Amino acid sequence: MTHSSPLRLGINIDHVATLRNARGSVWPDPLRAALLAQEAGADGITAHLREDRRHIRDADMAAIKAGIAIPLNFECGATDEMQAICLATRPHAVCLVPERREERTTEGGLDVAGDEARLKAFIAPLRDAGARVSMFISHDPRQIEASARIGAAVVELHTGLYSDLHAEGRTDEAETELAALYTGAALAHSLGLEVHAGHGLTFDNVGPIAAIPQVQELNIGHFLIGEAVFMGLGPAIAEMRRRMNAARGL
Ligand code: PXP
Repeated sequence: MTHSSPLRLGINIDHVATLRNARGSVWPDPLRAALLAQEAGADGITAHLREDRRHIRDADMAAIKAGIAIPLNFECGATDEMQAICLATRPHAVCLVPERREERTTEGGLDVAGDEARLKAFIAPLRDAGARVSMFISHDPRQIEASARIGAAVVELHTGLYSDLHAEGRTDEAETELAALYTGAALAHSLGLEVHAGHGLTFDNVGPIAAIPQVQELNIGHFLIGEAVFMGLGPAIAEMRRRMNAARGL
């Protein structure tokens, strides 16, 4: 696989809702951010409906799905409540993420290997409804192999540890983590999984992740919403895209 293909960029707009909820008002509006991201060339919108509704709410998800023309990636925990909302919302993709302590592996992703039978049954109706189901996991081969076995279409590799190490200037450890992400991406691709990546990505650390040849999509939120305060959301997205393309040799 070469670097000739551009990477898709999904914009996570959760923290627009965080800002709104901090005041208990109706501003800023997550749908408006999603439309601005679409206009700025985002390939998709990601939103996470948490069980505690701490940022995105049910009505936001419905409004975003109805309002955007690009794919919606619905992030949620693997609960019956979320499955029912996904089936009603009919998003392009569903990304299952850990929300409760017991769902987390030490590396921070969803523990697919430890919950294989349940997750296989859980994703079947979502797949039948036409959603591309993604597992947000660490680069642990056991988690990647389990994701393939249960029939997930996509794995999203968790880049949070890499991002933290990079931010703390722990260069050698960040390199080791990056190497593990490279190996994980290659393994996932060899098993027929589409590979995405995300969490904690910034202008400064996105390059090496964007350069992983098998990665087809990055999902980026918190940094871009923060940067929007300084440079505007559209320009922040454009700059992220420029850096992703440069890493890809485009
Ligand atoms: N991908 C997944 C699966 C996530 O849960 C998140 C955070 O909600 C992101 C990507 C985006 O992470 P960040 O907000 O740190 O860019």
